Amino acid sequence: MLNCTKAPFLVNFSHLLIVPVNRQICRSQDWDRAQYPTGDRRLKVMSPLLEVQDLHVYYQTARGPVKAVNGVSFEVRVGERYGLIGESGSGKSTIALAILRLIKPPGQIVSGRILLDGVDLLGLSEEEMRQQRLASVALVTQGAMNSLNPVIRIRDLIADGLSNHGVRMSAREIQTHIADLLARVGLRSEVAGMYPHELSGGMKQRVCIAIAISLRPRLIIADEPTSALDVVVQRQVMQTLRKVQEELGAAVILIGHDMGLMAQFADRMGVVYAGRQVEEGGVEELFAQPKHPYSQLLMASLPTLEEKGVFQEAQGAPPSMLDLPTGCVFHPRCPYVMERCTLEEPQLQMVWSGHRAACHLLDGDRSLDRSVAQIQEDISS
Ligand SMILES: Nc1ncnc2c1ncn2[C@@H]1O[C@H](COP(=O)(O)OP(=O)(O)OP(=O)(O)O)[C@@H](O)[C@H]1O
Ligand code: SF4
Ligand SMILES: [Mg+2]
Repeated sequence: MLNCTKAPFLVNFSHLLIVPVNRQICRSQDWDRAQYPTGDRRLKVMSPLLEVQDLHVYYQTARGPVKAVNGVSFEVRVGERYGLIGESGSGKSTIALAILRLIKPPGQIVSGRILLDGVDLLGLSEEEMRQQRLASVALVTQGAMNSLNPVIRIRDLIADGLSNHGVRMSAREIQTHIADLLARVGLRSEVAGMYPHELSGGMKQRVCIAIAISLRPRLIIADEPTSALDVVVQRQVMQTLRKVQEELGAAVILIGHDMGLMAQFADRMGVVYAGRQVEEGGVEELFAQPKHPYSQLLMASLPTLEEKGVFQEAQGAPPSMLDLPTGCVFHPRCPYVMERCTLEEPQLQMVWSGHRAACHLLDGDRSLDRSVAQIQEDISS
């Protein structure tokens, strides 16, 4: 039997209170008893787990503030797989770091709210927030596998994470728990005794996933977790992430450029452009009927909706985050720009239930309903 005990002053999400707790919270046999009942996933993903509200994150530079995240709002539901896409520099990693409160100077969370199960993470003390990391929300990044300490064996890397969070187990329990975690990510138990340099890139990234799930977080943020790996290994790592996500009942935010991976993994998706969210909807709808001109350009750049397609940048350059365009941030590149677009910033509005876009064309004749072929024709003309 495996008992896990966390440190005092853990946020107890089941009661939405910050309470001193020092009690058993996890047993190995509970792991497979999913946090959410089995059955239709759609039923499990109705209630919000994470609510990001009007988030602004700036990096102060000698040339002025870089407005990396400039009024982003979205929510991720319990057990949901949510995708965030956008071109390089659009603010995706900054959003991830802000959720974990890992923004370092010269970066600063200027305003907004980040609620996890109703608790505002921005209101927690540093120590309370430290406890949340790994225990409630974990981050797996592209560079994670290279940041594994090369002189520490895998078992000690995992055990350190547990002990840093006040988990107290006997040596035997820890050994069992680590073997269980490694098995869940498809690694042999002998890997526990190995050093990171003895593992392939895919194996190291699986170790990072094992560490990320070691305290059964409710939310896993995967920021381009596979982009340094070859295609076959990418798929294997994504399958591993999906498997553990389903076993855990955790929500996942997948950040990436690879539309093929995104289409296969995510339930819903948000499109980010120049620090703003310009569209959000179910993955199938967003691929089939993108509403925002930027999303349309993205989708039109794919070979087919099913095939793997790496994000190709739309024509023109993204704006400088130091000097954002007035009105709609996309207007200098938009094929449908109107005078109003240069003056007024469009707000996200509902296209239909569960689908939002920020474009003035939505106020008019809904002429955004174009097929991918028409969009491609518009772009080339
Ligand atoms: N420490 C920093 N100082 C100044 N500007 C920064 C800093 N970190 C990020 N930025 C800027 O913030 C903006 C958003 O960066 P971010 O890394 O969040 O983008 P991203 O969407 O994750 O890009 P990519 O897809 O390339 O990973 C960029 O313009 C970037 O130059
Ligand atoms: S608001 Fe105007 S510039 Fe912006 S995406 Fe819509 S049509 Fe294009
Ligand atoms: Mg990034």
